[in-house]
Amino acid sequence: MAGEKEKVCVTGAGGFAASWVVNLLLSKDYVVHGTVRQPGDSKYAHLNKLEKASENLKLFKADLLDYDSLRAAVEGCTGVFHVASPVPAAHSVADPEEFLEPAVTGTLNVLKACVEAKVKRVVVVSSIAAIVMNPDWPKGQVKDETCWSVPEYIKTTKKWYYLSKTEAERQALEFGKRNELEVVTVCPSVILGPILQSNLNSSSLLLVGTVKGGVESLGYNYWTFVDVRDLAEAQLLAYNKSEAGERYLCTSHAIGTEEVVEKYLRPAYPNYSYPKILTHTEEEKEYLSSEKLQRLGWTFRPVEETLIDSIESYRKAGIVD
Ligand SMILES: NC(=O)c1ccc[n+]([C@@H]2O[C@H](COP(=O)([O-])OP(=O)(O)OC[C@H]3O[C@@H](n4cnc5c(N)ncnc54)[C@H](OP(=O)(O)O)[C@@H]3O)[C@@H](O)[C@H]2O)c1
Repeated sequence: MAGEKEKVCVTGAGGFAASWVVNLLLSKDYVVHGTVRQPGDSKYAHLNKLEKASENLKLFKADLLDYDSLRAAVEGCTGVFHVASPVPAAHSVADPEEFLEPAVTGTLNVLKACVEAKVKRVVVVSSIAAIVMNPDWPKGQVKDETCWSVPEYIKTTKKWYYLSKTEAERQALEFGKRNELEVVTVCPSVILGPILQSNLNSSSLLLVGTVKGGVESLGYNYWTFVDVRDLAEAQLLAYNKSEAGERYLCTSHAIGTEEVVEKYLRPAYPNYSYPKILTHTEEEKEYLSSEKLQRLGWTFRPVEETLIDSIESYRKAGIVD
């Protein structure tokens, strides 16, 4: 109908990355169906405060392992942004099914519901976890979308989150081809940036841990990251501009911990107690390219904007200071 707004669904709408997608879509006048697992929980309160949420955001109770709940949420939508997936605090846990089942079966449930509801296009948020664990890739060569993590290799490391993202993304692209559903995947590196939600997600905890103090060393030395707002823009570009079946690596910066602290954080916030040991070796650096996404028109913020806006959002939420 002429003038009718386009309806899209965002899964896991209350999460860190998804909240910014909802925010962007509302700002572009989409009507958004957001899925959440526990409607009424205060952890989703920020969603209703987003601009245009009162007219254009509708929340649906849905779990990735409950097909009927997903089917109801995608009804009437032309597009779906499938962002929901369990994200661990540390990427190694005892029970693989905790990640594999919701990620893989959950993604297939979303896609099946999309076929049944005649959704045209689905943007699936994957991860560089589905790219970087490839021992056969030539050392030092830049990794791009042609590089896939190798499941058999991941199993030897027991990094089940990495396996869950690799399997979910591969199966999503194959499902799209088999079922004539337009599937496009976006693979972000570590996501940082200001939080909209009140519960801290695991990647934001990296930065909170850096400024909150009390640790000798962070235990990781290289930051390969993308701003959550730039990631939301990347998903919208993938939705509107990509060919079907494509995969996009989405990352902006790769810098050492000492640069994060000494160049960007300490000058702005001299009173935080930063980790004492700040080192990095070139060995640990991942060389990743987002050129393909940039060719679609994607641009990204400078490092300091992401870091400072993140810290300011934690201060505002009373998480630091
Ligand atoms: N953060 C990163 O650094 C990073 C990097 C690369 C890729 N990613 C990917 O980006 C996406 C979003 O991550 P995030 O950092 O924004 O994480 P987050 O804040 O923890 O959000 C994850 C979301 O997934 C939902 N979810 C988990 N299991 C579910 C299930 N069984 N059914 C329905 N919903 C479920 C959660 O819903 P509830 O709110 O209902 O609990 C939550 O909204 C994920 O796909 C993740 O793999 C993240």
